[in-house]
Amino acid sequence: MKVGVLGAGGMGGTVIEHLRECDRVTEIVAQDIREARVSELRSKYGVRATSNLREILDDPQVPLVFITSSNDAHRDLTLQSIEAGKAVMCEKPMANSLADARTMVEAAERRKAFLQIGFELRYSKLYTQVKDWVDAGLLGQVVNTHCTYICSEFHHKGSWRNKLATGGSMFGEKLSHYVDLPRWWVGADVPVVDVFSACSPNVIPYYEVRDNYHTTYRFANGAVGHLTFMMAVGATFRGDPLQDVIGQQRGDGHALQFMIEGTKGAAFADVFDRRLKRWAFGDSPTCMTSSWVENRTWDTPEDHIYFHNTLDQTHDIVRRVAEGLPPKTSARDAYETMRLCFAADLSADSGRQVLMAEVGV
Ligand SMILES: NC(=O)c1ccc[n+]([C@@H]2O[C@H](COP(=O)([O-])OP(=O)(O)OC[C@H]3O[C@@H](n4cnc5c(N)ncnc54)[C@H](O)[C@@H]3O)[C@@H](O)[C@H]2O)c1
Repeated sequence: MKVGVLGAGGMGGTVIEHLRECDRVTEIVAQDIREARVSELRSKYGVRATSNLREILDDPQVPLVFITSSNDAHRDLTLQSIEAGKAVMCEKPMANSLADARTMVEAAERRKAFLQIGFELRYSKLYTQVKDWVDAGLLGQVVNTHCTYICSEFHHKGSWRNKLATGGSMFGEKLSHYVDLPRWWVGADVPVVDVFSACSPNVIPYYEVRDNYHTTYRFANGAVGHLTFMMAVGATFRGDPLQDVIGQQRGDGHALQFMIEGTKGAAFADVFDRRLKRWAFGDSPTCMTSSWVENRTWDTPEDHIYFHNTLDQTHDIVRRVAEGLPPKTSARDAYETMRLCFAADLSADSGRQVLMAEVGV
Protein backbone atom coordinates (compact mmCIF):
# COMPACT_ATOMS: atom_id res chain seq x y z
CA MET A 1 0.00 0.00 0.00
CA LYS A 2 1.17 3.52 -0.83
CA VAL A 3 0.62 5.80 2.19
CA GLY A 4 0.64 9.60 2.47
CA VAL A 5 1.80 11.64 5.48
CA LEU A 6 0.44 15.20 5.44
CA GLY A 7 1.97 17.98 7.53
CA ALA A 8 5.05 15.88 8.17
CA GLY A 9 6.96 17.58 11.00
CA GLY A 10 8.14 15.78 14.14
CA MET A 11 5.17 13.44 14.51
CA GLY A 12 5.10 12.92 10.74
CA GLY A 13 8.72 11.72 10.96
CA THR A 14 7.75 9.25 13.68
CA VAL A 15 4.87 7.94 11.55
CA ILE A 16 7.16 7.60 8.52
CA GLU A 17 9.54 5.47 10.59
CA HIS A 18 6.65 3.29 11.79
CA LEU A 19 5.34 2.92 8.23
CA ARG A 20 8.78 1.81 7.09
CA GLU A 21 8.57 -1.11 9.50
CA CYS A 22 5.17 -2.14 8.14
CA ASP A 23 5.22 -5.01 5.61
CA ARG A 24 2.06 -3.89 3.86
CA VAL A 25 3.47 -0.44 3.03
CA THR A 26 5.21 -0.35 -0.33
CA GLU A 27 5.77 3.41 -0.66
CA ILE A 28 5.56 6.49 1.56
CA VAL A 29 4.86 9.97 0.21
CA ALA A 30 5.13 12.97 2.51
CA GLN A 31 3.88 16.53 2.31
CA ASP A 32 4.56 19.71 4.27
CA ILE A 33 3.94 23.40 3.60
CA ARG A 34 7.52 24.32 4.56
CA GLU A 35 9.92 23.78 1.65
CA ALA A 36 12.83 23.37 4.09
CA ARG A 37 11.01 20.47 5.73
CA VAL A 38 10.20 18.96 2.32
CA SER A 39 13.93 18.87 1.52
CA GLU A 40 14.65 17.41 4.92
CA LEU A 41 12.01 14.70 4.45
CA ARG A 42 13.80 13.64 1.27
CA SER A 43 17.31 13.72 2.73
CA LYS A 44 16.59 12.38 6.22
CA TYR A 45 13.94 9.75 5.49
CA GLY A 46 14.56 9.06 1.80
CA VAL A 47 10.85 9.38 0.96
CA ARG A 48 9.23 11.18 -1.94
CA ALA A 49 8.16 14.56 -0.55
CA THR A 50 6.28 17.55 -1.86
CA SER A 51 4.74 20.83 -0.74
CA ASN A 52 1.88 20.28 -3.19
CA LEU A 53 -0.99 18.59 -1.34
CA ARG A 54 -2.79 17.77 -4.59
CA GLU A 55 0.09 15.55 -5.71
CA ILE A 56 -0.92 13.12 -2.96
CA LEU A 57 -4.68 13.70 -2.87
CA ASP A 58 -5.01 13.26 -6.65
CA ASP A 59 -2.95 10.06 -6.66
CA PRO A 60 -5.42 7.14 -6.89
CA GLN A 61 -2.67 4.77 -5.70
CA VAL A 62 -2.78 6.37 -2.22
CA PRO A 63 -5.76 4.97 -0.24
CA LEU A 64 -4.64 6.18 3.21
CA VAL A 65 -3.20 9.42 4.61
CA PHE A 66 -1.89 10.22 8.10
CA ILE A 67 -2.46 13.88 9.07
CA THR A 68 0.27 14.98 11.43
CA SER A 69 0.23 18.75 10.89
CA SER A 70 -0.13 21.37 13.61
CA ASN A 71 -3.66 21.40 15.04
CA ASP A 72 -4.87 24.44 13.06
CA ALA A 73 -4.61 22.48 9.79
CA HIS A 74 -6.33 19.23 10.93
CA ARG A 75 -9.80 20.24 9.79
CA ASP A 76 -8.96 21.36 6.27
CA LEU A 77 -6.53 18.53 5.57
CA THR A 78 -9.07 15.99 6.83
CA LEU A 79 -11.96 17.41 4.80
CA GLN A 80 -9.89 17.60 1.62
CA SER A 81 -8.59 14.07 2.12
CA ILE A 82 -12.06 12.63 2.72
CA GLU A 83 -13.32 14.52 -0.32
CA ALA A 84 -10.50 12.93 -2.34
CA GLY A 85 -11.69 9.49 -1.19
CA LYS A 86 -8.84 8.76 1.22
CA ALA A 87 -9.00 6.86 4.48
CA VAL A 88 -7.73 9.24 7.16
CA MET A 89 -5.88 8.98 10.41
CA CYS A 90 -5.79 12.48 11.94
CA GLU A 91 -3.75 13.32 15.03
CA LYS A 92 -5.46 14.52 18.19
CA PRO A 93 -6.91 16.98 18.94
CA MET A 94 -9.39 16.66 16.11
CA ALA A 95 -9.56 20.42 15.64
CA ASN A 96 -9.27 23.73 17.45
CA SER A 97 -13.03 24.26 17.66
CA LEU A 98 -15.84 21.85 18.40
CA ALA A 99 -17.70 23.02 15.30
CA ASP A 100 -14.70 22.05 13.15
CA ALA A 101 -14.47 18.65 14.85
CA ARG A 102 -18.16 18.09 14.22
CA THR A 103 -17.74 19.01 10.55
CA MET A 104 -14.99 16.38 10.27
CA VAL A 105 -17.11 13.62 11.84
CA GLU A 106 -20.11 14.52 9.72
CA ALA A 107 -18.01 14.53 6.54
CA ALA A 108 -16.65 11.07 7.38
CA GLU A 109 -20.10 9.71 8.21
CA ARG A 110 -21.65 11.21 5.06
CA ARG A 111 -18.97 9.66 2.83
CA LYS A 112 -18.74 6.47 4.92
CA ALA A 113 -15.04 7.26 5.10
CA PHE A 114 -12.51 5.74 7.48
CA LEU A 115 -11.54 8.40 10.04
CA GLN A 116 -9.53 7.47 13.12
CA ILE A 117 -8.18 10.05 15.57
CA GLY A 118 -4.72 9.63 17.11
CA PHE A 119 -5.66 8.64 20.65
CA GLU A 120 -2.79 6.18 20.63
CA LEU A 121 -2.86 5.61 24.39
CA ARG A 122 -5.64 3.17 23.54
CA TYR A 123 -2.81 1.03 22.10
CA SER A 124 -0.36 1.53 24.98
CA LYS A 125 0.11 -1.60 27.03
CA LEU A 126 -0.09 0.24 30.34
CA TYR A 127 -3.64 1.25 29.54
CA THR A 128 -4.82 -1.66 27.35
CA GLN A 129 -3.98 -3.93 30.29
CA VAL A 130 -6.32 -1.86 32.48
CA LYS A 131 -8.98 -2.12 29.78
CA ASP A 132 -8.49 -5.91 29.66
CA TRP A 133 -8.95 -6.08 33.44
CA VAL A 134 -12.11 -3.99 33.16
CA ASP A 135 -13.46 -6.18 30.35
CA ALA A 136 -12.65 -9.34 32.33
CA GLY A 137 -14.71 -7.96 35.23
CA LEU A 138 -11.71 -7.84 37.60
CA LEU A 139 -12.32 -4.21 38.57
CA GLY A 140 -16.12 -4.33 38.50
CA GLN A 141 -17.71 -1.10 37.32
CA VAL A 142 -15.12 1.70 37.15
CA VAL A 143 -16.34 4.46 39.47
CA ASN A 144 -13.34 6.71 40.16
CA THR A 145 -10.34 7.66 38.06
CA HIS A 146 -7.66 10.12 39.12
CA CYS A 147 -4.88 11.21 36.78
CA THR A 148 -1.92 13.20 38.06
CA TYR A 149 0.20 14.66 35.28
CA ILE A 150 3.11 16.89 36.27
CA CYS A 151 5.76 17.68 33.70
CA SER A 152 8.28 20.26 32.60
CA GLU A 153 7.66 23.01 30.06
CA PHE A 154 8.53 20.96 26.99
CA HIS A 155 6.68 22.96 24.33
CA HIS A 156 9.27 25.76 24.43
CA LYS A 157 9.08 29.47 23.54
CA GLY A 158 7.67 30.30 20.13
CA SER A 159 5.97 26.91 19.66
CA TRP A 160 2.64 26.84 17.78
CA ARG A 161 1.37 24.72 20.69
CA ASN A 162 1.43 27.66 23.12
CA LYS A 163 -0.64 29.95 20.93
CA LEU A 164 -4.44 29.94 20.92
CA ALA A 165 -4.73 30.33 17.12
CA THR A 166 -2.56 27.32 16.33
CA GLY A 167 -2.43 25.12 19.44
CA GLY A 168 -6.08 25.71 20.30
CA SER A 169 -6.01 24.72 23.96
CA MET A 170 -3.74 22.77 26.26
CA PHE A 171 -6.71 20.57 27.10
CA GLY A 172 -7.20 19.45 23.52
CA GLU A 173 -3.51 19.36 22.64
CA LYS A 174 -2.28 17.43 25.65
CA LEU A 175 -4.97 16.42 28.11
CA SER A 176 -7.44 14.99 25.60
CA HIS A 177 -5.48 11.72 25.93
CA TYR A 178 -6.05 11.66 29.69
CA VAL A 179 -9.81 12.13 29.59
CA ASP A 180 -10.15 9.79 26.62
CA LEU A 181 -8.85 6.85 28.68
CA PRO A 182 -11.40 7.09 31.54
CA ARG A 183 -14.17 7.40 28.93
CA TRP A 184 -12.87 4.13 27.46
CA TRP A 185 -12.62 2.36 30.83
CA VAL A 186 -15.98 3.53 32.16
CA GLY A 187 -17.60 2.57 28.84
CA ALA A 188 -18.39 4.33 25.58
CA ASP A 189 -22.12 3.87 26.28
CA VAL A 190 -21.89 5.92 29.50
CA PRO A 191 -21.85 9.62 28.61
CA VAL A 192 -20.16 12.35 30.63
CA VAL A 193 -22.83 14.70 31.99
CA ASP A 194 -20.93 17.63 33.48
CA VAL A 195 -17.48 19.05 34.16
CA PHE A 196 -15.79 21.61 36.36
CA SER A 197 -12.29 22.99 35.75
CA ALA A 198 -10.44 25.26 38.13
CA CYS A 199 -7.25 26.79 36.74
CA SER A 200 -4.84 29.08 38.53
CA PRO A 201 -3.12 31.94 36.70
CA ASN A 202 -0.30 30.57 34.54
CA VAL A 203 3.15 30.05 35.96
CA ILE A 204 4.70 29.95 32.47
CA PRO A 205 4.62 33.64 31.44
CA TYR A 206 4.77 33.26 27.65
CA TYR A 207 1.87 30.78 27.18
CA GLU A 208 -1.41 31.95 25.63
CA VAL A 209 -2.87 28.53 26.52
CA ARG A 210 -3.29 27.35 30.11
CA ASP A 211 -0.46 25.57 31.90
CA ASN A 212 -2.57 23.97 34.65
CA TYR A 213 -5.95 22.33 35.19
CA HIS A 214 -7.84 20.76 38.07
CA THR A 215 -10.73 19.17 36.23
CA THR A 216 -13.52 16.96 37.59
CA TYR A 217 -16.13 15.35 35.36
CA ARG A 218 -19.07 13.09 36.12
CA PHE A 219 -20.55 10.26 34.11
CA ALA A 220 -24.25 9.42 33.74
CA ASN A 221 -23.82 6.31 35.96
CA GLY A 222 -22.28 8.36 38.78
CA ALA A 223 -18.62 7.57 38.01
CA VAL A 224 -16.21 10.48 38.51
CA GLY A 225 -13.00 11.37 36.67
CA HIS A 226 -10.43 13.82 37.97
CA LEU A 227 -7.34 15.25 36.35
CA THR A 228 -4.60 17.33 37.93
CA PHE A 229 -2.14 18.90 35.51
CA MET A 230 0.82 21.25 36.06
CA MET A 231 3.35 22.02 33.36
CA ALA A 232 6.33 23.75 34.89
CA VAL A 233 7.43 21.66 37.84
CA GLY A 234 9.36 18.68 36.44
CA ALA A 235 13.05 19.49 36.04
CA THR A 236 13.90 20.76 32.54
CA PHE A 237 15.07 17.78 30.51
CA ARG A 238 18.73 18.11 29.50
CA GLY A 239 19.48 14.44 28.96
CA ASP A 240 19.78 12.39 25.80
CA PRO A 241 16.29 11.96 24.32
CA LEU A 242 17.36 8.70 22.71
CA GLN A 243 18.40 7.19 26.03
CA ASP A 244 15.91 6.08 28.67
CA VAL A 245 13.85 9.28 28.82
CA ILE A 246 11.54 7.88 31.50
CA GLY A 247 14.42 6.77 33.72
CA GLN A 248 16.23 10.09 33.34
CA GLN A 249 13.18 12.09 34.46
CA ARG A 250 12.23 9.79 37.33
CA GLY A 251 12.19 11.50 40.72
CA ASP A 252 12.89 15.00 39.33
CA GLY A 253 9.28 16.21 39.72
CA HIS A 254 7.76 14.44 36.71
CA ALA A 255 4.66 12.37 37.46
CA LEU A 256 2.17 10.62 35.24
CA GLN A 257 -0.09 8.39 37.26
CA PHE A 258 -3.60 6.98 36.98
CA MET A 259 -5.58 5.48 39.87
CA ILE A 260 -8.59 3.56 38.60
CA GLU A 261 -11.05 2.35 41.21
CA GLY A 262 -13.88 -0.02 40.45
CA THR A 263 -16.51 -1.73 42.56
CA LYS A 264 -14.53 -5.01 42.68
CA GLY A 265 -10.93 -3.87 42.45
CA ALA A 266 -8.53 -1.13 41.49
CA ALA A 267 -5.52 -0.45 39.29
CA PHE A 268 -2.66 2.02 39.47
CA ALA A 269 -0.52 2.94 36.46
CA ASP A 270 2.67 4.90 37.03
CA VAL A 271 4.72 5.81 33.95
CA PHE A 272 7.82 7.16 35.69
CA ASP A 273 7.95 4.23 38.11
CA ARG A 274 7.32 1.81 35.19
CA ARG A 275 4.69 0.18 37.34
CA LEU A 276 1.22 -1.27 36.96
CA LYS A 277 -0.59 -2.60 40.01
CA ARG A 278 -3.93 -4.26 40.61
CA TRP A 279 -5.97 -4.85 43.73
CA ALA A 280 -8.94 -7.20 44.21
CA PHE A 281 -11.66 -6.33 46.70
CA GLY A 282 -13.24 -8.96 48.90
CA ASP A 283 -15.05 -9.46 52.15
CA SER A 284 -14.11 -10.62 55.66
CA PRO A 285 -16.02 -10.83 58.95
CA THR A 286 -14.51 -7.51 60.03
CA CYS A 287 -14.27 -5.35 56.92
CA MET A 288 -14.28 -5.09 53.17
CA THR A 289 -10.83 -6.27 52.10
CA SER A 290 -8.42 -5.28 49.39
CA SER A 291 -5.63 -7.58 48.21
CA TRP A 292 -2.70 -6.39 46.12
CA VAL A 293 -2.70 -9.13 43.46
CA GLU A 294 -0.55 -7.88 40.56
CA ASN A 295 2.61 -5.81 40.39
CA ARG A 296 4.05 -5.45 36.90
CA THR A 297 6.96 -3.56 35.52
CA TRP A 298 8.76 -3.36 32.18
CA ASP A 299 12.22 -2.64 30.80
CA THR A 300 13.47 0.47 28.99
CA PRO A 301 13.25 -1.04 25.47
CA GLU A 302 9.52 -1.58 26.02
CA ASP A 303 8.84 2.05 27.05
CA HIS A 304 7.25 2.98 23.73
CA ILE A 305 4.86 0.01 23.85
CA TYR A 306 3.77 0.83 27.39
CA PHE A 307 3.76 4.61 27.13
CA HIS A 308 2.97 6.20 23.72
CA ASN A 309 2.39 3.24 21.42
CA THR A 310 2.22 5.07 18.09
CA LEU A 311 3.96 2.08 16.46
CA ASP A 312 1.10 -0.38 16.96
CA GLN A 313 -1.44 2.35 16.23
CA THR A 314 0.16 3.07 12.84
CA HIS A 315 0.41 -0.60 11.89
CA ASP A 316 -3.15 -1.31 13.06
CA ILE A 317 -4.55 1.54 10.96
CA VAL A 318 -2.73 0.28 7.83
CA ARG A 319 -4.10 -3.21 8.51
CA ARG A 320 -7.64 -1.96 9.05
CA VAL A 321 -7.65 0.06 5.84
CA ALA A 322 -6.07 -2.82 3.87
CA GLU A 323 -8.70 -5.26 5.17
CA GLY A 324 -11.64 -2.84 4.84
CA LEU A 325 -12.24 -2.75 8.61
CA PRO A 326 -13.61 0.26 10.53
CA PRO A 327 -11.41 2.37 12.86
CA LYS A 328 -10.53 0.88 16.27
CA THR A 329 -12.28 3.88 17.81
CA SER A 330 -15.00 5.57 15.79
CA ALA A 331 -14.67 9.24 14.91
CA ARG A 332 -17.93 9.79 16.83
CA ASP A 333 -16.38 8.30 19.98
CA ALA A 334 -13.28 10.51 19.57
CA TYR A 335 -15.58 13.47 19.07
CA GLU A 336 -17.17 12.74 22.47
CA THR A 337 -13.73 13.11 24.02
CA MET A 338 -13.32 16.41 22.17
CA ARG A 339 -16.71 17.58 23.51
CA LEU A 340 -15.44 16.93 27.03
CA CYS A 341 -12.26 18.91 26.29
CA PHE A 342 -14.20 21.93 25.06
CA ALA A 343 -16.62 21.71 28.00
CA ALA A 344 -13.63 21.59 30.40
CA ASP A 345 -12.29 24.78 28.82
CA LEU A 346 -15.68 26.48 28.91
CA SER A 347 -15.81 25.69 32.61
CA ALA A 348 -12.31 27.11 33.14
CA ASP A 349 -13.30 30.26 31.22
CA SER A 350 -16.59 30.78 33.03
CA GLY A 351 -15.57 29.56 36.48
CA ARG A 352 -18.64 27.34 36.80
CA GLN A 353 -19.79 23.78 36.33
CA VAL A 354 -20.69 23.12 32.68
CA LEU A 355 -23.30 20.63 31.53
CA MET A 356 -22.18 18.66 28.48
CA ALA A 357 -25.43 19.62 26.77
CA GLU A 358 -24.20 23.25 26.78
CA VAL A 359 -21.46 22.53 24.25
CA GLY A 360 -23.89 20.99 21.79
CA VAL A 361 -24.15 17.47 20.48
N1 LIG B 1 -0.47 11.38 19.75
C1 LIG B 1 0.61 11.88 20.31
O1 LIG B 1 1.07 11.42 21.32
C2 LIG B 1 1.26 13.04 19.67
C3 LIG B 1 2.59 13.34 19.92
C4 LIG B 1 3.16 14.42 19.28
C5 LIG B 1 2.39 15.19 18.41
N2 LIG B 1 1.09 14.88 18.20
C6 LIG B 1 0.25 15.68 17.30
O2 LIG B 1 0.86 15.67 16.01
C7 LIG B 1 0.65 16.93 15.40
C8 LIG B 1 1.99 17.50 14.96
O3 LIG B 1 2.83 17.67 16.06
P1 LIG B 1 4.41 17.81 15.81
O4 LIG B 1 5.06 17.67 17.12
O5 LIG B 1 4.83 16.91 14.71
O6 LIG B 1 4.52 19.33 15.33
P2 LIG B 1 5.60 19.92 14.31
O7 LIG B 1 5.56 21.40 14.49
O8 LIG B 1 6.90 19.23 14.48
O9 LIG B 1 5.03 19.53 12.86
C9 LIG B 1 3.87 20.10 12.33
C10 LIG B 1 4.10 20.25 10.83
O10 LIG B 1 2.87 20.66 10.23
C11 LIG B 1 3.23 21.48 9.11
N3 LIG B 1 2.06 22.21 8.68
C12 LIG B 1 1.40 23.20 9.29
N4 LIG B 1 0.32 23.58 8.58
C13 LIG B 1 0.28 22.78 7.49
C14 LIG B 1 -0.60 22.68 6.38
N5 LIG B 1 -1.66 23.48 6.23
N6 LIG B 1 -0.33 21.75 5.43
C15 LIG B 1 0.76 20.93 5.55
N7 LIG B 1 1.63 21.00 6.58
C16 LIG B 1 1.38 21.91 7.54
C17 LIG B 1 4.37 22.33 9.64
O11 LIG B 1 5.12 22.91 8.63
C18 LIG B 1 5.15 21.31 10.48
O12 LIG B 1 6.20 20.71 9.74
C19 LIG B 1 -0.12 17.78 16.39
O13 LIG B 1 -1.48 17.72 16.10
C20 LIG B 1 0.16 17.13 17.72
O14 LIG B 1 -0.87 17.31 18.65
C21 LIG B 1 0.52 13.81 18.79
